[in-house]
Amino acid sequence: MTSSEELAALRERLEGEGCRLDLLFVNAAIDRGNQPIHEVSTDMFTEVMITNTLSPLRALEALRGLVVPGGTVAVMSSDQGSISRNTEDGYELYKASNAALNQLMRSYTTRHADDGHTKLLIDPGHNQTQLGGPDAPLTPQGSIPAVVDVLEAQTGAPGLQFLDRHGETVPW
Ligand SMILES: NC(=O)c1ccc[n+]([C@@H]2O[C@H](COP(=O)([O-])OP(=O)(O)OC[C@H]3O[C@@H](n4cnc5c(N)ncnc54)[C@H](OP(=O)(O)O)[C@@H]3O)[C@@H](O)[C@H]2O)c1
Repeated sequence: MTSSEELAALRERLEGEGCRLDLLFVNAAIDRGNQPIHEVSTDMFTEVMITNTLSPLRALEALRGLVVPGGTVAVMSSDQGSISRNTEDGYELYKASNAALNQLMRSYTTRHADDGHTKLLIDPGHNQTQLGGPDAPLTPQGSIPAVVDVLEAQTGAPGLQFLDRHGETVPW
């Protein structure tokens, strides 16, 4: 994700195999803990923002040429990136990285408004993963099939939407 060279190599390999994508779904992020932002080191800030915010957009740009007309370009985001829902303490850096990701996805959508691709930001809910922790209320086994249903149901929809696993709009 964080290597432009490896993204370019992946694009080349997929192109060489004649690969065409109905759905390009970028799903990777890191979380480096729950410090208030003034306690986050510059290195940690840089690592999280590069991984969660810059790299997904680089991945989209590297691979969007493989997406068929009418296909979907989506990024896993989080309602933690919703500015209007940010009323609880904690995870300031992770929240900021998702808010900035959402903003960049809006810029991507404006830049590629006429490419005929459906564009989505997805909030999967709080899931038991390495990132979500063992106390999360949801499991990927339960929630990701619902995410897939949302991705499929939105095929052909215009513009950019920020949706949860129920297909409901998440406020910016
Ligand atoms: N879990 C939740 O509650 C929750 C809630 C909302 C949104 N999300 C979002 O869901 C997505 C997946 O998170 P998760 O919960 O499944 O977290 P996870 O269990 O920690 O998995 C993160 C994934 O991202 C990959 N990744 C991290 N850095 C990478 C890099 N530099 N290059 C390539 N892959 C990299 C990891 O690959 P390796 O295993 O190879 O390191 C791993 O597959 C993220 O975008 C996250 O923000 C999760």
